[in-house]
Amino acid sequence: MAQMNFVGAGKSYGTTRVVEKLDLEVEDGSFTVFVGPSGCGKSTLLRMIAGIEEISEGDLLIDGVQMGDATPVERGIAMVFQNYALYPHMSVEKNIGFGLKMANMSKAEIDKRVAQAADILKIEPLLKRKPGQLSGGQRQRVAIGRAIVREPKLFLFDEPLSNLDAELRVEMRVEIAKLHRALAATMIYVTHDQTEAMTLADKIVVLRAGKIEQQGTPVQLYDDPENLFVAGFIGSPRMNFLRGKVKLASDGTASATLAAGGTVDFGAIDPAGWVDGEEISVGIRPEQFHYEGAGDIRLPVNVDVVENMGGAYFIHAQTQSDELVVCERRGGALPAAGDALEVGFNRADLRMFAANGQRLRLRAAQ
Ligand SMILES: Nc1ncnc2c1ncn2[C@@H]1O[C@H](COP(=O)(O)OP(=O)(O)OP(=O)(O)O)[C@@H](O)[C@H]1O
Ligand SMILES: [Mg+2]
Repeated sequence: MAQMNFVGAGKSYGTTRVVEKLDLEVEDGSFTVFVGPSGCGKSTLLRMIAGIEEISEGDLLIDGVQMGDATPVERGIAMVFQNYALYPHMSVEKNIGFGLKMANMSKAEIDKRVAQAADILKIEPLLKRKPGQLSGGQRQRVAIGRAIVREPKLFLFDEPLSNLDAELRVEMRVEIAKLHRALAATMIYVTHDQTEAMTLADKIVVLRAGKIEQQGTPVQLYDDPENLFVAGFIGSPRMNFLRGKVKLASDGTASATLAAGGTVDFGAIDPAGWVDGEEISVGIRPEQFHYEGAGDIRLPVNVDVVENMGGAYFIHAQTQSDELVVCERRGGALPAAGDALEVGFNRADLRMFAANGQRLRLRAAQ
């Protein structure tokens, strides 16, 4: 187990800055997930933690100790990558134990650790095989086994499941959750997969262009995003944003006229960031739409495409102002492309954002 802290840590390649000075704490025994668009610095951060990439400024502390130029092994770190890079000519058993052999560990100890890892990962029957005789999911298990036998304090995973097909991903995701529980180790995990982030994380860190946009529990980020970027990034399909024009009243309340038609009364607001006459984004998640007359506010739309997912369907539609919305419906009548439809939503579900992307809030209930 290990606790990790970045203190004012940043990374530049020459004059190109890829990670801004940032502070970040990863709690002992936690599962922390880094998400963000391609190129935002996720892998760079992992390499900085592992010690395979130098930190340009600031410090990295593990269990309160400054790491300086300590190697990954000295840091007690093991990393699992997307391309698991197994040695093709070695058996699974040898692949898993190879790092330990290089560290001159006794054969008895290596055998014991390999057997333990194989037991945890349920790969005992595969130990004598070569990587070429394994499925993708089995190879990924071997790669994880290679990390486990080192008994690291801190596991770093860089998109470990992204080469696997959908079914295997789900299976391995559950395996990784179990592994985290069984080993009680600190894990930092990079993914592009929303479901992995939401289901595995104790804490999600949302990055953009080398900066932390927001960090919090999955539920905090989903329900209470601090800005438009996080609101649009977390959740799949993403949050819908409708254009609205703000009207502030002298009694401390606000409303917005939606380009798509209709007015939303927000009631009493927290005035920070609200500007009379400014265009804002009014966010509503796909599953928060209601049908057949339900919901405080009505929104007429024209259906473009309906995607039937089996248990639910996604209605892709256009508002009267040509804004695109995705509405999720479970059960009920299935509309057809070209249908006119009236959907509804509730004021309490809306999340508002100023033109600069900052969250606009209502006055907290007294
Ligand atoms: N050796 C390097 N020299 C210069 N720039 C680099 C170097 N390595 C990475 N970068 C840049 O640093 C930025 C962050 O890269 P990084 O690999 O951390 O992104 P990422 O968030 O992991 O992206 P992805 O989701 O595509 O894996 C990118 O803009 C990348 O081009
Ligand atoms: Mg990466």
